[in-house]
Order: sequence, then C-alpha cells, then structure tokens
Amino acid sequence: MRKLVCAGNWKMHKTAREAADFVKIFLPLAQAVPDRVEIVLCPPFTALAAVSKLLTTGRVRLGAQDMHWERGGAFTGAISAPMLCDLGVHYVIVGHSERREYFGETDETVRLKTAAALQNELTPIVAVGETLAIRDTGKTADHVIAQTRAALEGLNAAQIARILLAYEPIWAIGTGRNCDPAQANAVMSAIRSCMPALNDVPILYGGSVKAENIAAYTAQPQIDGGLVGGASLDPIVFAQLCTAADAPRHGSVPDPARGPSTSSG
Ligand code: PGA
Repeated sequence: MRKLVCAGNWKMHKTAREAADFVKIFLPLAQAVPDRVEIVLCPPFTALAAVSKLLTTGRVRLGAQDMHWERGGAFTGAISAPMLCDLGVHYVIVGHSERREYFGETDETVRLKTAAALQNELTPIVAVGETLAIRDTGKTADHVIAQTRAALEGLNAAQIARILLAYEPIWAIGTGRNCDPAQANAVMSAIRSCMPALNDVPILYGGSVKAENIAAYTAQPQIDGGLVGGASLDPIVFAQLCTAADAPRHGSVPDPARGPSTSSG
C-alpha cells in the first residue's frame, strides 16, 4: 500500500516565532495522529531553522516550498538543496502553480529541481495542475501528463519511485471551490497510467482541502493524501485534518452523501 501523506504548505505565512508557536501546539496533537500518516510541514525558508530545532522526534517531517537546482553560485535570493539538507529538511515542493505563475517556473526548471532534489536525498513533491481554461477544453489529463513527463524526464524507475506527486487543479487552490473527489481520482489515474514507475508513487490532492473534506479524497483509490495550504496554518485544524485523512483506509468511511466541504479559507 502506498503511504499516506499530509503536507502543510504555509506559503508566505508565519515568522520564525509564529512558526515555532505553531509547532509547540501541533506536536502533542500530532502524537494522536495514526502513525500511518506521514506529516510534513513546509514553512517559509526563514522559519525552517526554528521549526527544525523543534522537530526532534521525526514524527513530523520538514519540507521546503522551493529550491534552486544548483548547489551554489551567483543566484541572488536563491536557496540550494545542500542548504536545505543542512537544516534537516526532507521534502521540497517543486513546481507549485504559484511558482509557475508568479516566478517564471517552467517545465524545464521543474525538471532540473526535481533531479537536483533527488541527487541531494531530498524527496521532491512535484506539483502539477490545470487552469480552468484548460479544464473547460477537456484537456486536463493531457496537460498534467505532459507536466509530469517533463518533470521526470531523464530519471530512472528507481529515482521516480522516490518522488511524490501533487495534483492541484489551479482553480481549486485557495478558492474554496473543490474538485470533485471522483474527478480528481480520474485525473490521478491518468497520470499514474502514463508511466509504470508511478505505480507506487503517492499522489496528493491539493486545492481547498479541509479537515471536513480530506476523507472524501483519501477514500478514493488513487489519492494518497493532501497538499494543504490554508487549512495547515492552524495547528488544531491541521491535526484534525491529518487524523481524518486516515479514516477511509482504516474503517470509518465518510458518508458520501455529505460530499466535500465547499467552505473557503
Ligand atoms: P489551499 O492551497 O489548500 O489553500 O487551497 C493548496 C496549495 O496551494 O498547495
């Protein structure tokens, strides 16, 4: 069975002190989350050291939101994989749609970053997703498959087995407008079937995931957790979400009549 992962992407939120305050409340709550759920926190670069210092037990893993593909050099403002490793970082998000949209991230830079993360023993969480315009033309699967192939080009099966994917429909991010879980499952199924090496790779769903709707996603056979923005900023809410993610795999299947929450945040 593929592992279940809940990753909190804090984006440009929380100072180092605010991040430490979150972790102090969150860690005891995380002890009550079933061990099967891998919990990842991705604070901004400036809070990584403060969070790392508090994550001593390994129950909660540290992730970064981006990185440069070079080990070092004249790249003002950039952060390299060795710098992240030095702070105890295990995961790194690569190709988030906000990086693609606002910071010039391309399929080629996503490929370079994915390869560099693997070379440095970091686990890349490679994000793909379509705009509403692409969805409306019925080309969602083609688009995300092309993004996935581009990101993984040149990697062998053993390397691909070490990554995570995140499918995040762009129109669902931060909007409170959820993708229907069955539709997200179908897109992930298409992604997975484009490369045999993706069979065992966890694929997370992202886009307005909440504690109330995560189980509707993880109840789907292709969905292995969530990449969570807004709902990861509160320690109590995020701990509830991590626990709820596990429920469908271990007994308490959510009532499908309730469907996913549509509340925004
Ligand atoms: P959201 O963000 O949960 O706030 O929609 C998800 C993401 O961008 O990873």
